[in-house]
Amino acid sequence: MSKLLEGKVAIVTGAGSGIGRAVAVTLAGAGATVVVSDVSEGTGQETVDIIGDGAGFIRTDVADQASVQNLVDETVRRHGRLDIAHNNAGISGQVGLLADLDPDDWARVVAVNLTGVFNCLQAELKVLVAQGSGSIINTSSVLGLGAIPEQGHYIAAKHGVIGLTKAAAVDYAKTGVRINAVAPAPVRTALVEKLEAENPGYIERLSSFIPAGKIAEPGDIAEAVLYLASDASRFVSGTVLRVDGALAAM
Ligand SMILES: NC(=O)c1ccc[n+]([C@@H]2O[C@H](COP(=O)([O-])OP(=O)(O)OC[C@H]3O[C@@H](n4cnc5c(N)ncnc54)[C@H](O)[C@@H]3O)[C@@H](O)[C@H]2O)c1
Repeated sequence: MSKLLEGKVAIVTGAGSGIGRAVAVTLAGAGATVVVSDVSEGTGQETVDIIGDGAGFIRTDVADQASVQNLVDETVRRHGRLDIAHNNAGISGQVGLLADLDPDDWARVVAVNLTGVFNCLQAELKVLVAQGSGSIINTSSVLGLGAIPEQGHYIAAKHGVIGLTKAAAVDYAKTGVRINAVAPAPVRTALVEKLEAENPGYIERLSSFIPAGKIAEPGDIAEAVLYLASDASRFVSGTVLRVDGALAAM
């Protein structure tokens, strides 16, 4: 029996860690050829080693348009096509009230989390639209749909990712290219572990807000991305799939 993503070529940004690594492994497990992309070469290569045959690494800084263009060009050069792109790379900023946020930190968070997705969409859409098919999944967050205290830069950027997702889905709805977003609740990854280290008890406090009573694991998000990447979601575009342990139902 052929696998769900047999013959498909996928890019995953931020695939050296956390959600991106889990997605890269899951898409490869479903038969896709995966291009692991990350600004960190060491951890990106580790993901390639975990996947084994078929995967390759391309170092990319998503905040740098030329670097992203190289990622897409090199993927097409190596594999002849592109079918799936998970625009996932992201960073957290320093926690603080809005008026106290460092403008440099604001610029960094927006450059990676929002402009990074824009850079990826521009480069990927040119290939996918010409091909007449493809699925793009952007990583937003439940903080793209609402706010908690002291993360104004991150919240603004993640709301922007949802706006970009909707705009792109409408612009390209007739082309055969679908663009969706996932909005995870907190997930046990390096990003959250860093916030825990800076603010002890952070994960426990987060868990107490989630009806499921725990934060998500990276694999929980990967399964949602797999659905959006596959033809099982063929009429789904411009949507935001929350993966949040019933948080939105509260
Ligand atoms: N962990 C959570 O609780 C959570 C919840 C909702 C959304 N998200 C989002 O999920 C995505 C992945 O986060 P994660 O939790 O797996 O974090 P993570 O820190 O484990 O992984 C992020 C990866 O992105 C890479 N990266 C950072 N800057 C980059 C850049 N400029 N270009 C390319 N790669 C870069 C890092 O090297 C790292 O490998 C992010 O967009 C994050 O905002 C995370």
